[in-house]
Amino acid sequence: MKKQKYRIREAGFADAPAIFAIIKKHPDELVPRPVSDIIQNIDRFLVAEADGAIVGNASWGILPEIGQAKHPTIEIKSVAVDRAHRGTGLGRALVQAAIRRVKKLKPEMVIVLTFKPEFFRKFGFSEVPKESIMHKLYTGCVNCTKYDSPFTCPEVAMGLKWKYDPPAPGGK
Ligand SMILES: CC(C)(COP(=O)(O)OP(=O)(O)OC[C@H]1O[C@@H](n2cnc3c(N)ncnc32)[C@H](O)[C@@H]1OP(=O)(O)O)[C@@H](O)C(=O)NCCC(=O)NCCS
Repeated sequence: MKKQKYRIREAGFADAPAIFAIIKKHPDELVPRPVSDIIQNIDRFLVAEADGAIVGNASWGILPEIGQAKHPTIEIKSVAVDRAHRGTGLGRALVQAAIRRVKKLKPEMVIVLTFKPEFFRKFGFSEVPKESIMHKLYTGCVNCTKYDSPFTCPEVAMGLKWKYDPPAPGGK
């Protein structure tokens, strides 16, 4: 059998329909996203390509902060790999690439809300209390129609934090 060539790359507008289709195939694990939202946030998507077809994606969003926060929280979301391509390392490659990308922004914390905590533990994520991500609950979970409250929702909140170098003398 011919070995498939995979690559992870930044998404472009032309990828939006394929991303929409992959997210739509995972209604139990992923929050549905309209095409318009995918298009508006296309620069926050990575895709996995196999022989020219989109077979996986991952994205991120910046949670709101009020005031002078230097290191806001970023959520990694919409992580999925097409069933036929699972178990080949694509999920890992997508999450690692998303972490590398968002780390450049020096967030205070990267979070995920997931039914697959063991998968995300592999990248250093550990469970955090949902009370510690109230900005996510108020901007996302508040619109959920599946569960009456984020605290009864079985999704696990996980966070990943780093220590950054202290700022250089003079604040530069
Ligand atoms: C979770 C998902 C993205 C993994 O994709 P994948 O391409 O099969 O994962 P990989 O092949 O890169 O696996 C990487 C590692 O994670 C492990 N892993 C894969 N799926 C896992 C799961 N569901 N639970 C726990 N570990 C998992 C693999 O065994 C592998 O471990 P190893 O490197 O120690 O051998 C894929 O199963 C998927 O799309 N699921 C549906 C959507 C979903 O649940 N997304 C998660 C966000 S809620």
